Amino acid sequence: MTRRAFCAGTVGTAGLAALPLSAQEAATLTARVSTAQLAPVSYPATAVWAYDGQLPGPVLRVPQGGRVTRQLVNALPVPTSIHWHGIRIDNAMDGVAGLTQDPVPPGETFDYDFAVPDAGTYWYHAHTNSMEQVARGLAGALIVEEAEPPEVDRDEVILFDDWLLNPEDAQFMEPFNHPMSLSHAGRMGNLLGANGTYDPVVATRPKERLRLRLINGANARVFILRLHELTGWTVALDGMPLPAPEAVEGELTLAPAQRVDLIVDVVAEAGAEAGLLHLGDDDSWQVLVRMPVESGAASVVRGVPVPLPPNPRVELPSLETARRLEMVMEGGAMAGMASARFEGKDMGFRELAGRGQFWALSGQSGMSDTPFARLERGESVRLKLTNATVFPHAMHLHGMHFREVHPDGSFGPMRDTILSLPDEPLEIAFVADNPGKWLLHCHMLAHAAAGMISWIEVA
Ligand code: C2O
Ligand code: CU
Repeated sequence: MTRRAFCAGTVGTAGLAALPLSAQEAATLTARVSTAQLAPVSYPATAVWAYDGQLPGPVLRVPQGGRVTRQLVNALPVPTSIHWHGIRIDNAMDGVAGLTQDPVPPGETFDYDFAVPDAGTYWYHAHTNSMEQVARGLAGALIVEEAEPPEVDRDEVILFDDWLLNPEDAQFMEPFNHPMSLSHAGRMGNLLGANGTYDPVVATRPKERLRLRLINGANARVFILRLHELTGWTVALDGMPLPAPEAVEGELTLAPAQRVDLIVDVVAEAGAEAGLLHLGDDDSWQVLVRMPVESGAASVVRGVPVPLPPNPRVELPSLETARRLEMVMEGGAMAGMASARFEGKDMGFRELAGRGQFWALSGQSGMSDTPFARLERGESVRLKLTNATVFPHAMHLHGMHFREVHPDGSFGPMRDTILSLPDEPLEIAFVADNPGKWLLHCHMLAHAAAGMISWIEVA
């Protein structure tokens, strides 16, 4: 088990307990230019774009059933907007530039004000040129608290990321829309970390019970995680509670934008180090989050946690009466795409590539004027997702959670983002109960920018 920074040799002991603190009092959220010490201190700080100048942005905490009321102040040199990922939100507040609002020009503001019906772990991020803006740091956690939270010693938010930095000066590699990122796996960082540092540290004590709210904020990386000197249970996925906690055995897969809530118990003794490991590109397990076990009053060993209280509106879709749809993911390197429709015109591969388009969803690259589907409010939908590419895609639906439909007709847990693997049939179903225009896109953000983005409309 080793820790690997993007340049060997200088990994110091400067463990930054850089965990975001509590919610900010001010009712603004200012997107601005700032700096962050992402890399070891022997490197310069990285110039970033960040909410309130913090990377990640402040952790916003609100009670379930309450409201998020924040004025976005755009102090960036470019237009921006904020999407509240996973919230079953009022459509006008969804933050999608060009679909649900105009982008907010530099120097201007936008008032976000919406109810949060569901408790759980959510996040917010830029949704104007998100491939670049999220990579530069415009993301943060949004925690909606249960009226009666589970009994734990501490509640920790861990927002994973990877940053593609120039190893000479630790600044972001540009351009953000490099054709290699667009046409292959997306923008992959060369420095991995969480909560704004390559060396995230969560101090613990023997036998402590922690709630870990894991968020994958990376542009394209799928994190494969493992517990080290911890035992635990998965209690929620993408914010939504599981009916019963599931013991973590083996690996956890966290695709871009996905969240998992764990309840873990520290099993190591004082002086040892627990933590979260991830599977590195060389197939070895690397430390991703260090959890040094400090001495202190050991708390009691507890039993299996009770399930989180259920959220509202969790009715199962009706498979028999559901409208059936199919979406085919095509394009990208090594699979090719002969042609697709882009900006109202049929184009061949070369013409598409010339416009930075490498992917299509059912023959359409990028946004269409008309939705992929118009749905009646309340109707059930089953959507087959066919991955005809050689890459995984993290498909995300705005505004509503869905469930995987297994081949035997049983349902998976509610999610807002699901990983589709090449040649693996996948079907999801949901009740279209939230009116408005909702994006359905790949959360490998370079893929979305290069064509893998569509939308549906619920009447
Ligand atoms: Cu995380 Cu279109 O969103
Ligand atoms: Cu994709």
